[in-house]
Amino acid sequence: MTDPTPALVAAIDLDVPGPIISRHLYGQFAEHLGRCIYEGFWVGEDSDVPHVGGIRADVVEALRELDVPNLRWPGGCFADEYHWQDGIGPREQRPRMVNTHWGDVEENNHFGTHEFMALCELLGAEPYVSSNVGSGSVQEMSEWVEYLTRTGDSPMARLRREHGRDEPWTVRFWGIGNEPWGCGGNLRAPQFASLARQYATYARDHGDNQLYRVAAGAADDDYAWTETLMKELTTGLGDRSPRALFQAVSFHYYTMSGGWSAKGSATSFTDAEYWTTMRRALHVRELLAGHAAVMDAYDPTKQVGLALDEWGTWWDVEPGTNPGFLFQQNALRDALVASVHLDAFHDHADRLRLANIAQTVNVLQAMVLTDGDRLVRTPTFHVFAMSRGHQDAVALPVRVVERATRVVDDVEIGTVSASASTKDGHVLVSVTHLDPTAGATVRIDLRGRPVSAPVATVLTATSAQDHNTVDHPDAVVPLPFDAVRLTGSMLELDLPPASFVTVDLTLG
Ligand code: AHR
Repeated sequence: MTDPTPALVAAIDLDVPGPIISRHLYGQFAEHLGRCIYEGFWVGEDSDVPHVGGIRADVVEALRELDVPNLRWPGGCFADEYHWQDGIGPREQRPRMVNTHWGDVEENNHFGTHEFMALCELLGAEPYVSSNVGSGSVQEMSEWVEYLTRTGDSPMARLRREHGRDEPWTVRFWGIGNEPWGCGGNLRAPQFASLARQYATYARDHGDNQLYRVAAGAADDDYAWTETLMKELTTGLGDRSPRALFQAVSFHYYTMSGGWSAKGSATSFTDAEYWTTMRRALHVRELLAGHAAVMDAYDPTKQVGLALDEWGTWWDVEPGTNPGFLFQQNALRDALVASVHLDAFHDHADRLRLANIAQTVNVLQAMVLTDGDRLVRTPTFHVFAMSRGHQDAVALPVRVVERATRVVDDVEIGTVSASASTKDGHVLVSVTHLDPTAGATVRIDLRGRPVSAPVATVLTATSAQDHNTVDHPDAVVPLPFDAVRLTGSMLELDLPPASFVTVDLTLG
């Protein structure tokens, strides 16, 4: 039953544009972890699974539906043990190593720099390379930049040509370190800041290739870490801009219903665990505002970007799978966690310039899961597909007049989340309804410019635990939605329980 009292009454001023929502807020992340790279992206040139030069064709085909803007690689924690020169040259001759972070398994380095760049080209995504500060050297990192991006003659450009690539690639996004307070070296913030300044100096712009250097940042609400980075990396640069050394600082935030030792199951959870998950997902708003406020103090004109380059749900691994492989299912609940994050990203688009959900295939909150030669699109995949119209669109802030709320773990949260943007003569409105037990009415006044022809799509299921499997790939899929009315400027929706709805309208 839909409660006739609106769960959300709001207004959107179509003639008052907000900032551009960078498409890079829809970035993905591929780490050498479990079955993300091997089996997920890479099956090798001798595989029976259909592939393009060793890269899985079905995964590429699915991800192309998402307009993936950038792909972060090779980690994560793995990045701080990765030595890029081990991953070039004839595959059978590449040195092997132990992936100590993830399952203690042997890494054969068959997927390296050239394979990653080929994958980005197939996806139409920009590469985001995360470099090794924890156990690498400044020289090693500097040479990687040269290998990838240098035109003309130089030792690394020659080495690249010897390995079959004449022209340099374009690589903009360059991560300096990863979680340096933990797996990236157990460093203190001032210690990492000094190292980061040094590494950034030697991460050179070659020719026209301008790097966008991202300093590895805080966990969750460690605003002190962001403060130290901002102070050490963006001030004291003489008459140079705050973004002279670094163009962004990052932070990471994961959502779970329990704690790190028992995170909760992906598909079997109580109502209380469901609501705790949603409270924690919505908490990302506070974190974005908190880190942005610290940055404002050092960089009031917002020249340095904030990057949330790891986010998403983290559950206990699926029973019977390797605990070090972080393989989890993905239910309707995960989809709603994703959609409320995306609303928060749109609202913070003035400072947030980059975000990467963890991770793309077979690990954590994945877009697709593979099983042998079969592939399934997750509910989270569908949220990204339904939301891709927000990429590079102009944000339209949603002004909330009234909203239904609920107290979860002593914190009051809104049970409906919404965001909107405009691009190419269209307006796209996203609405998430969190309550899994009842429908809800939403009323949004789209004022300031005329709109017409609403076309709506819904993602929902009979339970928030529902998920897709290779045998039932369509348990949670987007469907046309007709419980939508546009009367003058008033958009009214009757939302099903636990649902994500997008409405595309034509301007004029
Ligand atoms: O995404 C999995 C891991 O989570 C990453 O390797 C690390 O950066 C984070 O702790």
